[in-house]
Amino acid sequence: MWFFKKMCTSNAPLDGKTVVITGANSGIGKETARDFYGRGARVILACRNMKKADQAVKDIKNNPPSRIKENEYQSIAGQLAIYSLDLSSLESVRKCAKNLLAKEAAIHILVNNAGVSMYPYEKTEDGIEMTLQTNHLGHFLLTLLLLPKMQSSSPGCRIVNVSSITHIWGDIHFDDINLEKSYSPSKGYMQSKLANILFTKELARRLKNANIGGINVYSLHPGLIPTEITRHANSTIFFGAGFIYNFLTWLFCQNIEEGAQTTIYCSVDEKTASETGLYYSNCTVANPQEKANNDQYAKNLWDVSCKLLHLEPEEDFTTFLQTVSCQIM
Ligand SMILES: NC(=O)c1ccc[n+]([C@@H]2O[C@H](COP(=O)([O-])OP(=O)(O)OC[C@H]3O[C@@H](n4cnc5c(N)ncnc54)[C@H](OP(=O)(O)O)[C@@H]3O)[C@@H](O)[C@H]2O)c1
Repeated sequence: MWFFKKMCTSNAPLDGKTVVITGANSGIGKETARDFYGRGARVILACRNMKKADQAVKDIKNNPPSRIKENEYQSIAGQLAIYSLDLSSLESVRKCAKNLLAKEAAIHILVNNAGVSMYPYEKTEDGIEMTLQTNHLGHFLLTLLLLPKMQSSSPGCRIVNVSSITHIWGDIHFDDINLEKSYSPSKGYMQSKLANILFTKELARRLKNANIGGINVYSLHPGLIPTEITRHANSTIFFGAGFIYNFLTWLFCQNIEEGAQTTIYCSVDEKTASETGLYYSNCTVANPQEKANNDQYAKNLWDVSCKLLHLEPEEDFTTFLQTVSCQIM
């Protein structure tokens, strides 16, 4: 439907900029990577499946986004690189950050896009509920580890967290963060997507309080898009649920390129350059649910996330970042 299909109209170039996108081997992440590559960026696909990442690189190189003509694409395109990242392993997150810090001269944009949905109950090797770690905690750690590099790459840096409209039914279960007592796949997903918005808000606040300028933080709902995000729905909801979601979203909502537009808008558009800590939908600032606007909730989630990572949530943010960095020395 046309009213769900606002496109990012910015032509901002990204030559000379380095962008990291998690989960860029499929779906919204891959379309975001294609757009940034077409703007001249060095685009890093941080992925766990190397075979799929190789295929994504070939696809991106050969097929421009619809806004760019095929004969112009090769001359304006940037670079593509793949780094290994499995968000369900904190060790892998640390290794990926260490590699990025060692090999990349700068990081200007970080898109925390990877995600799982409707996952059966499982704990990661770190003892954390799978959806919470993949969608929130892994990105929380990755972001903190990359922040010093982004600081040295600023101004003009952006961190973009891909959330979901389903956060409106979510809550942060502080007394049972791993949902050991009452798990359901949707509860786990909604908790993680609310966490994406609260993390955005709290990170923006801490950066501001620490007088760290030039790094803005955004969260967003990308729309409802037929992608592989439904892959677990057949086993956890009912057989065919994934197919039905993808058929209905294909029929009535956005295609994948359209579904990447709000991520692109938050990452590059000049209109958002002075905004931070906000939530977006359909390339516009939107209102998340009440809990997502609650400062105490955001602070509590920050503290719980630190506890899960065995970190002291220092009030002095600069000291805190140094402590986090020690984890990969
Ligand atoms: N599609 C929608 O309707 C919709 C709606 C609202 C929000 N979203 C959000 O949009 C984001 C992108 O989803 P999508 O729709 O594009 O789905 P997708 O095609 O399934 O993409 C998800 C990506 O995340 C990666 N990923 C999953 N677990 C990972 C892990 N442990 N470590 C590293 N990467 C991992 C996947 O890699 P593999 O291929 O290796 O599994 C894949 O590249 C997600 O955050 C999702 O919650 C989507």
